[in-house]
Parts: sequence; structure tokens; C-alpha cells
Amino acid sequence: MASNKKLLVLPGDGIGPEVMGQVRRVVDWFDKRRAVGFDVAEGFVGGAAIDAEGAPLSDETMAEAMASDAVLLGAAGGPKWDNLPFEQKPERGLLRLRKEMDLFANLRPAICFEPLVDASSLKPEFISGLDILIVRELTGGVYFGEPRGIEDLPDGSRRGVNTQVYTTAEIQRVARVAFELAGKRSGRLCSTEKANVMETGVLWRQEVQKLGDAEYPDIELTHMYADNCAMQLVRNPKQFDVIVTDNLFGDMLSDEAAMLTGSLGMLPSASLGAPDVTGRRMALYEPVHGSAPDITGQDKANPIASVLSFAMALRYSFDLGDDADLVEQAVNNVLADGFRTADIMQPGMKAVSTTDMGTALVAALDALAA
Ligand code: IPM
Ligand code: MG
Repeated sequence: MASNKKLLVLPGDGIGPEVMGQVRRVVDWFDKRRAVGFDVAEGFVGGAAIDAEGAPLSDETMAEAMASDAVLLGAAGGPKWDNLPFEQKPERGLLRLRKEMDLFANLRPAICFEPLVDASSLKPEFISGLDILIVRELTGGVYFGEPRGIEDLPDGSRRGVNTQVYTTAEIQRVARVAFELAGKRSGRLCSTEKANVMETGVLWRQEVQKLGDAEYPDIELTHMYADNCAMQLVRNPKQFDVIVTDNLFGDMLSDEAAMLTGSLGMLPSASLGAPDVTGRRMALYEPVHGSAPDITGQDKANPIASVLSFAMALRYSFDLGDDADLVEQAVNNVLADGFRTADIMQPGMKAVSTTDMGTALVAALDALAA
């Protein structure tokens, strides 16, 4: 019998614990009903970790994350911790996980589920069939560049500094992931930066082109300025297949792409490291949405983004594509049956709670496996 997969669940803050509660039910379903088995541990991240352990991520949790086959994270942050000094903010816990696990490739798919085609603010013909994958660089750029800080100037005013910095190796490794994924999809890759104003953008464009010429001549590579890409995403999103971009542009473009589908509550993500000699890679899976303090504790949040993030874990960490398909099919069926959390509610549909949505998903899995 294959040994169990080690999962570390970090529910975090706000709606994190509520949505991860439903993910636990889906994980349990797979543990009981499918060939794969899971050992699940839970820990603290973000504000929850500050309250329980005095820091946004303890060294113990960090070590446990490194030793896990996959980390499933809910959300980090909230108004309670907004006034803490920068280095102690909840978000630092998430950024520490990304950096120390070296999760440089962040996959953010924006897929339109057909039953939700009317939930988008764009006309259905622009959204129907939408299937974009944003590959965001996650451990470099202005998020981590040095020098950084806020300094006092002699005249009594202050100066804030952040540094956008990329090396050839950082660009190439994330571009390689994007080329490989494009090869498994339509064979088209759009690389996005601001080469018209930033040296890092010039380097990014050159290095991606060089890699494409040398190793991926069959992939159709295009380049686009990030501002134009933001505009093209709302003008005609289906022109894109895979987009590769840096940390900051990826943060913004992925929120935009996510909303094309109607709700941030639907979009999962995978953050992956490089495979080691055994093929094992560090990985963290989390919804694109945040902690949503406005609806916390009301059993109102949409758990689908987190459940789909677990599906990505099945696909990318455990090579269980059929099981991942099963989760995605269950989501589609539940939506087709009219179940809607508040964020995706439409006239004539059944408004359900977070818990009810979890129940519907488990029932849909039962029906698919029957
Ligand atoms: C994201 C989030 C994070 C980011 C925050 C919470 C630090 O917006 O994952 O997109 O900026 O990367
Ligand atoms: Mg973001």
C-alpha cells in the first residue's frame, strides 16, 4: 500500500477557518473513498499565529511545512492586526512560507464554470469557455528586493524605498514552468512586463525570448506590456492562454483575471518549488481571495476556491489528475444544480451557506463515485 500523503492545513484568519473546514470534509472523502490516503495536521498562520504563538509563522510550523507533501492555506490578515509593525503583520507569515519553501511558480487559473457565465460583469460571449492560466513569479521582484524601508530625511520628511530586482536564473526558472504548461495546453504563451520603463522588464523580455528560442521553439511566444495586458484582459480575455509575469504584476493581473469569472470566491492557486532529485517538490495551495473580514464568522463565504485549490494539490503534488477532475466535476455539478453562496448568488438559484456548499460538494462526489 502506498504511504499516506502528509498534508499541513493552515486555516489562518477571517473566513480561512470556515472555508478550510469544508476542505477538510473533501479531504476526508478522498481519504475514505479513493486509493490515496492523507495524514492531516493543522497549524497556525497569520493573525491566528500571532495570537496563539506570538509571530505570524512559528519556526515549528515553518519546519512542518517544509516536511509536508503539500500545505493547504486559508487566508492571512485582518483589521485586528493592521496596526502592527510591518515585520509582524499576518501577511509576513504567508510571505515567509513562500520564500523559505522557495515557491517561485504561482499558478493562478481563471476558468469560467458554464453555470456561472452570467456572474461576470462582462458579457457572456466574452467569458463563456474562458480558461486562462496566470503563472506569477512569487519569490522575487519588489516583494523581496533590497534595499527596502522607510527612512527619515534631514528636513523632517520621509522616504519610502522598495527595489524591483530580477536575475536571469529567477526569470528563466519561472518562464520554464510557463513554457512547459503552455506546451500541455494550447501552445501559446504571453510574457508580460514593463520593458518600456523598467530595466527588470527589459531583462525579463530578453531572457524569456532567449529561453523560448533555445528550448521551446514550438511554443508561440508573445510579449505584452503589463498595462496593456490589464486592458486586454477586460477587452478580450479569450485571446490569452498562459500568461507569465513577475510578482507584483502577477498579483494585480490575477485579481483582475479572477474577477472576470464573476467571483474571487471561485479561484484557486498553486505555489510550487523546483522538483528535487526524487521528483518531490514543495507546494502550497491557497485560494486567491483574502480573509474577507466583512463576512467572517457568518457561514457565508464561498469554499469553492479552497476546494479547487485542493484539486490542484491532487493534480500537481500527487499526480492524481483523475481525482482532481472529480473535484472539478463535483463543483460544476453543484453549480449546475443551482447551489450558490452569497458572492455568486443569482435570481432563481438556491442561496446556501459555507457549510451547505460543503455538504453539496460531498454529495456530488458521492454521486460521481457511485
Ligand atoms: C495574494 C495576496 C498576497 C500577495 C498578500 C496577502 C500578501 O494578495 O496572494 O495575491 O500580495 O501576494
Ligand atoms: Mg493578491
